[in-house]
Amino acid sequence: MGAHSDTAVQTADRHVALDDHALDQLFRTARTYNVFRDEAISDETIHKLYDLLKWGPTAFNAQPARYVFVRSPEAKGKLGPTLSSGNRDKTLAAPLTVIVAVDTHFHEHLPSQFPSYDARPLFESTPALIEPTIQRNGSLQGAYLILAARALGLDAGPMSGFNADLVNQAFFADGRWKANFLINLGYGTNEKRGRLPGKRHISERPLPAEQRRELGHWEMDTVIGSASNDCILTLVERLTG
Ligand SMILES: Cc1cc2nc3c(=O)[nH]c(=O)nc-3n(C[C@H](O)[C@H](O)[C@H](O)COP(=O)(O)O)c2cc1C
Repeated sequence: MGAHSDTAVQTADRHVALDDHALDQLFRTARTYNVFRDEAISDETIHKLYDLLKWGPTAFNAQPARYVFVRSPEAKGKLGPTLSSGNRDKTLAAPLTVIVAVDTHFHEHLPSQFPSYDARPLFESTPALIEPTIQRNGSLQGAYLILAARALGLDAGPMSGFNADLVNQAFFADGRWKANFLINLGYGTNEKRGRLPGKRHISERPLPAEQRRELGHWEMDTVIGSASNDCILTLVERLTG
């Protein structure tokens, strides 16, 4: 990989640990996001993202991952039918979705990527090495992308719930690249976190609860502060409360 050109790194005896704020943002308080603010991700941000993630190590510096940044309504339209039902709406609403794919002929680039010696013949003579190499290193590169996104203040929502054959047909018709997994990116919001899947409307509550005829029907409500994630929960028993 690239030489350390940063003077601070060259002159220091050792690297220093990142501060707590950085560690929180990258790991400890970072979460998987399903909902994002309605804020576009610029080309400049995409380039910054790639310029960070590309430094992550891979075997032979092979870098087999390839990234398709799906942002336009047309591209999202192609992706939509490939998604599992649970992933569809949130992915179509996300500002950006990355298809993390692999180049099944990555070894053609080894002479320039790994100048130490020519590793290309190794993969040409033993094709069985290709699959585990792209699987292992391509997945690592997807993880580097998630951490690079977090380092840039973005939030990520990785997904394997999609039909890879359909993605390959729609985006990689020549068969050389293969989809590994997807990552939604944007500025995450907690707006919809905690919503109950499949919850029913209050108008459907049973008559005894509606008419306060028996004990044991509780009303629950939440009040969430506008400037924090703190929450007050109220519980009232309908007959006695
Ligand atoms: C490779 C991968 C595939 C995932 N696939 C899905 C998915 O298809 N749908 C989904 O809603 N979440 C998916 N997730 C999100 C995980 O459920 C989530 O990262 C995990 O529960 C940890 O949550 P946290 O990051 O908020 O702690 C996936 C995560 C990874 C890393």
